[in-house]
Amino acid sequence: MKKIQVGIIGFGTVGSGLAEVLYSQKERLLKRTGVDICLAKVADINLSALPEQFSGVSLVRDGAELIQDPDIDIIVETIGGIEPAKSLVMAAIRAGKHVVTANKALLSQEGRDIFAAAAENQVEVGFEASVGGGIPVIKSLREGLVANRILSIMGIMNGTANYILTRMTEEGVPFDEVLKDAQEQGFAEADPTYDVEGIDTAHKLAILMCMAYGTNITHNEIATEGISQIEPLDIELAREFGCRIKLLAISRNHGDHVEARVHPTMVPESHLLASVSGAYNAIHFTGDTVGNVLLYGLGAGMIPTGSAVAADVVDIARNIQAGSIGRVPPLAYLPEEITSRRVTPMDELFGPYYFRFTVRDEPGVLSTISGILGRHGISLESVVQKGCREDHVVPLVMLTHTAKESAVAAALEEIAELESVVAPVVKIRLLEEE
Ligand code: HSE
Repeated sequence: MKKIQVGIIGFGTVGSGLAEVLYSQKERLLKRTGVDICLAKVADINLSALPEQFSGVSLVRDGAELIQDPDIDIIVETIGGIEPAKSLVMAAIRAGKHVVTANKALLSQEGRDIFAAAAENQVEVGFEASVGGGIPVIKSLREGLVANRILSIMGIMNGTANYILTRMTEEGVPFDEVLKDAQEQGFAEADPTYDVEGIDTAHKLAILMCMAYGTNITHNEIATEGISQIEPLDIELAREFGCRIKLLAISRNHGDHVEARVHPTMVPESHLLASVSGAYNAIHFTGDTVGNVLLYGLGAGMIPTGSAVAADVVDIARNIQAGSIGRVPPLAYLPEEITSRRVTPMDELFGPYYFRFTVRDEPGVLSTISGILGRHGISLESVVQKGCREDHVVPLVMLTHTAKESAVAAALEEIAELESVVAPVVKIRLLEEE
């Protein structure tokens, strides 16, 4: 029986999740592939021993040792970040090893170099776990939706941010309090910046856009806003308007240009994405032949993510066995067909908005603000003023019809200058009806 040897560099949550899945599913994988997929070596600088069930696996400190080992067929990089991950991945590819990675930061920034090197060296690069944790989103997009022009991508792609927003919604507690609690319980990273500021979501959207549209895009080109400024009052008001606030990645394919953004969004409660709670992720595609597709599941966690990494390892093992390396292009398009596309500047986009102004409860304030919005061509759908506080400062909330982003920015700048406006204006985009 053919034996495929795997080496894991980085034995943290994802690396150990893969080891566990390969171990617990060994017989099933054998029955499904006819290949003995075997974990041979692990490299980790922080570890002195592996768990007992991996007693036959050698542990070393230096990832380069795995790359130089002629018996290892597949290198799994699960250390994360850009360096040393990129150097190790490039060295593995140049050494003729197939690579599997869950590293969305690396792929969304350095993917071009990595995929070019992989094509040159005729090795495979698997990255199923880089988006949506355990959800098989990459393979669905690459293979299941191959006969589609993808028209849009929309989703909740960060479990930490979704968990925080869910608890803020259900318990009415502020962002900082939920984040602290999530960190204490081990749900959120010690440095949660990438998760809560939308950067991790932008990494994932960039990867999906490359594959969906056959275009080069890096996460830096995606307008990104996080959830750290969201207040319980906005969540409560959203509920009154029949909406939930979610951190969404949104992209639309306009042909010669593509839209790409990550920001908190008010989603109508009737929309499927509104009911995606806690650490779950959901990714929605619209294809011109299939219509709407929604993929839902756990976006993080050791074993679900291990399931996705194992799927890549199995794919590669099968391709080695069948002599069909490179049969499916990793980014879903032939490399020579991948082109650059203009990313639509945010200023050019249209949509409905929620504004919350904190104003002095004085005559004429409402008409001054609505007058400014009107002069910028922004039409109001509804206006709500909440009860008067002792200091005569009140929240004034407005929902708009579809407006242009640049007009909104100009109007809000003008409104922020008013003496009667006493706190920064809150702006949240509403999900547009398709
Ligand atoms: N940090 C990510 C999240 C998990 O919270 O969704 C892996 O992508």
